Amino acid sequence: MQDSTLLRAREDAERLLESAIMRYGGLEIGVRAALEPGPIPLNYDHCFVRDFVPAALHFLIHGRVGIVRNFLLLVLEMQAHEQEKDPDRIGAGLLPASFRVRTDGAVDPDYGEEAIGRVTPVDSSLWWILLLRAFVRATGEDLAARPEVQAALRRVLGGLLLQRFELVPTLLVPDGSFMIDRRMGVGGHPLEIQALLVGALRAAAELLQTDDDEGRDHAHAVDERLHRLVRHLRSEYWLDLDRLNRIHRYRNDQFGEDAVNLFNVYPDAIPRWAVDWMPDGGGYLAGNVGPGLLDFRFFTLGNLLAALMGVLEDGGAAALMTVLRERERDLLGRMPLKICYPAVAGTAWRLVTGSDPKNTAWSYHNGGHWPVLLWALAAVAVRTDCGDLAREALRRAAARLPGDRWPEYYDGRQGRLVGKLARLEQVWSASGFLLAQDFVEDPEQVRRLFPDAALEARDLPRSGAGAPFRLGPGFPGS
Ligand code: GLC
Repeated sequence: MQDSTLLRAREDAERLLESAIMRYGGLEIGVRAALEPGPIPLNYDHCFVRDFVPAALHFLIHGRVGIVRNFLLLVLEMQAHEQEKDPDRIGAGLLPASFRVRTDGAVDPDYGEEAIGRVTPVDSSLWWILLLRAFVRATGEDLAARPEVQAALRRVLGGLLLQRFELVPTLLVPDGSFMIDRRMGVGGHPLEIQALLVGALRAAAELLQTDDDEGRDHAHAVDERLHRLVRHLRSEYWLDLDRLNRIHRYRNDQFGEDAVNLFNVYPDAIPRWAVDWMPDGGGYLAGNVGPGLLDFRFFTLGNLLAALMGVLEDGGAAALMTVLRERERDLLGRMPLKICYPAVAGTAWRLVTGSDPKNTAWSYHNGGHWPVLLWALAAVAVRTDCGDLAREALRRAAARLPGDRWPEYYDGRQGRLVGKLARLEQVWSASGFLLAQDFVEDPEQVRRLFPDAALEARDLPRSGAGAPFRLGPGFPGS
């Protein structure tokens, strides 16, 4: 590709990003989701926490730190507190999905209670912690040491770690609680949330102050959970040809400590496409795991984030890149890259999406192509010596995005059509493109902004294992 095409796309993206900046009291505080109003004005004039992340990382790389600091502190101010909000409605510690600055100058957060489908933005808190760590790393300014930031961090960790009835170390969330914010069969223990959780816990381990008992308790809970979580993801979510073979020959209805098929997955649940699609030497993490459930779909962002947060060890990240290379037509296509593969269609579409016309097969969240995902591809590619793959993806994107006016997503098996209902001038399509270029040009930035090695997961005793249960003195007869 002509360098001039890349350069022109870069200038166009910078212009779009600059015009999307939101101000409050004269300070830069975030960016709008999209500039084009679209046929029905929705909440695209809001700054979404997740959408701001690629813009924020791009700003940090270029030394524009004020807007990121302001954003981090403003979002913290909006954290739901038990005493201020009705706890039945909004969980304490939750951060908003998005916020806007009203014409009267007030800031108006949305915790999902106004969003389409009333979806809970669990990922906001996780992205906030990750961005806080990136900020501290990039600037050397210890923003996390401020008492109000420590308090917010503990509140989030309280919600994530302490108040739960679950047996597994993964986080249980409702459908639509992250980038895929509509019903798409991604409730339960979806990969993207778990990868973000690993990243957020690793960041919290660095940022938490431990000079009092509460801080030490939180740090201990973070450490325990992190190791259990990463071991669980590596053993139960990983799919490659060897694992498919083992699942194919699984025994079912196993009870007790020696069970191998922990989640009682039936061999017939392996979809036919998965066996042919898995390349030799390739592997990836499943989309979701739960009782009787193994979602074989390939979720691109969850997998790339898992590599970036060190869930995948070096061999796993290389196997993931093999999938992206060998299935390049399916996953990168004309406009990198596809959000998940394959799409659900027919009866499965009815059951999984609730007949959602926006999420028909190979469109939007259901197998559409999202330019924003480029930054995550570039980050993992430069780390795994696959820079050529990222450069080629950038080349394809640069050739089309400015002419198409930076659509939110593309449709079709290979992403050849601009998304049917895609907003134009979608800001994270531009910031994702810019950040991808930053990473390709200077791979060192990936090491600075994210954990720089896979987590060495320790073996911990099985939770709940121990002495046999004895009845307490309150029970008649004991
Ligand atoms: C859509 C996307 C969501 C994004 C929002 C704003 O709802 O699914 O991930 O944050 O648009 O761009």
